[in-house]
Amino acid sequence: MVTSLGSAPSRRSVMIAGAGLMLAAAMPRRARAASAGTVERRLVAAPARLPLVGRGHPDTDVWSYDGSVPGPEVRLRQGERLKVTVENRLPQPTTIHWHGVRVPNAMDGVPYLTQKAIEPGTTFTYEFDLLDAGTFWYHPHHQSSEQVGRGLSGPLIVEERDPVAVDRDVVWMLGDWRLNRDASISDDFGNLHDVMHAGRLGNTVTVNGRIRESFALRAGERLRLRLVNAANARIFGLVFEGHDPQIIALDGQPVDPHAPDGNRVVLGPAQRIDLILDATAKPGARFRVLDTFYEGLEYRLLDLVYGSEPPLRDRPLDAPMRLRDNPLAEPDLAAAERHEVAFSGGMMGSMSGAIVDGERLSMAAMMRRGLGWTLNGVAAGEHSSKALFTIGRGRSCVLALANDTAWHHPIHLHGHNFRVISRDGRPTRRREWLDTLLMAPRERAEVAFVADNPGDWMIHCHVLEHQAGGMSGVIRVA
Ligand code: C2O
Ligand code: CU
Repeated sequence: MVTSLGSAPSRRSVMIAGAGLMLAAAMPRRARAASAGTVERRLVAAPARLPLVGRGHPDTDVWSYDGSVPGPEVRLRQGERLKVTVENRLPQPTTIHWHGVRVPNAMDGVPYLTQKAIEPGTTFTYEFDLLDAGTFWYHPHHQSSEQVGRGLSGPLIVEERDPVAVDRDVVWMLGDWRLNRDASISDDFGNLHDVMHAGRLGNTVTVNGRIRESFALRAGERLRLRLVNAANARIFGLVFEGHDPQIIALDGQPVDPHAPDGNRVVLGPAQRIDLILDATAKPGARFRVLDTFYEGLEYRLLDLVYGSEPPLRDRPLDAPMRLRDNPLAEPDLAAAERHEVAFSGGMMGSMSGAIVDGERLSMAAMMRRGLGWTLNGVAAGEHSSKALFTIGRGRSCVLALANDTAWHHPIHLHGHNFRVISRDGRPTRRREWLDTLLMAPRERAEVAFVADNPGDWMIHCHVLEHQAGGMSGVIRVA
């Protein structure tokens, strides 16, 4: 079966309330699952000019997939196979990484490690099965700070065979841009200040590629809201005033539905959170969604604006919210290999120097090369591919992660999802599966997984300027 993903969203019907709801959810889906096949798609990475800021401001020159920012929503069904030919019309080489998706190593999109970068004017075809349902995203993995910072990223949604019943399924790609006064993108990518501090924090936050004033709701409806943090460096802490969102998935992996801690939905760069949001207020109501993550820098993201239509239903939909778990192998903690990964560097750290390309350099010498961070005492140069350690294929593994820095870091492992076993020595309540763990300054964490996907896999900070500054390494599964 070949479908154009451009038309894919239309196959998601807006389900209706009442008795027909479960039927609507179940019937066409089962029929489709039987015919699971390959979904083919072409993505063109190219410059475009878009009204990012909107009215009263010039358009912005961006880098886009298929002329849009974010790139087109790639939506398919668990068990299907995705075949994407990427055409590079950018002025520099690129790749695509399918963030959070358990792909074969050769499809992982990491230049110098899993493939040659796609040169301008050439194409590369990625092809892999979608083993897991969930909210994922795609982005370049070459000069990521600049390429993501100029707009390259898009949502990859894998629908469950039996999804939870909702009225609408909506993606919010959260973007953060550093713009000049004329709405052009500041080209100070990779400057040492960003590298050594919190990364490239921008000055313009967008939802699905535009500054939004409002998001329309109908009283009584139930939304599945898929949040994707596609920012280079910004951490979001979203507060939905007047609402009681329930978290149903983290990084695409189902979790027991629960209210966010302190009623704030926190997403580090590259993380995803699926929420169930019941529109429980009255027609005509208006509430703010605030981002309160950085103290003193709180702002209003947008308003939830209720239409005047009569409520879709009188009380919140009484339907289960728990998603079925993905087929992830359960790590055997008693038999697990244990490895340590310590992160050091940055401003206000105590690092005096590190190994770079096999050579010991002072911090000053590192910084002259744009490097300021390490994993286990090694700062990765742009093309380093030497593995930190090897995990036996099929073995259970515990990684003991240590953030020996004064900064937050979203730590991402490629090719696998891991259970978060403990944080600062305390067992986690939900043992959640993640692919990106937001570590607080000085935090310790243990994560566990089965190393069942052979190859050389990156583990790195997803603050893209930290990654460029050496906070990146390779783990071999063999
Ligand atoms: Cu989302 Cu190594 O990346
Ligand atoms: Cu970092």
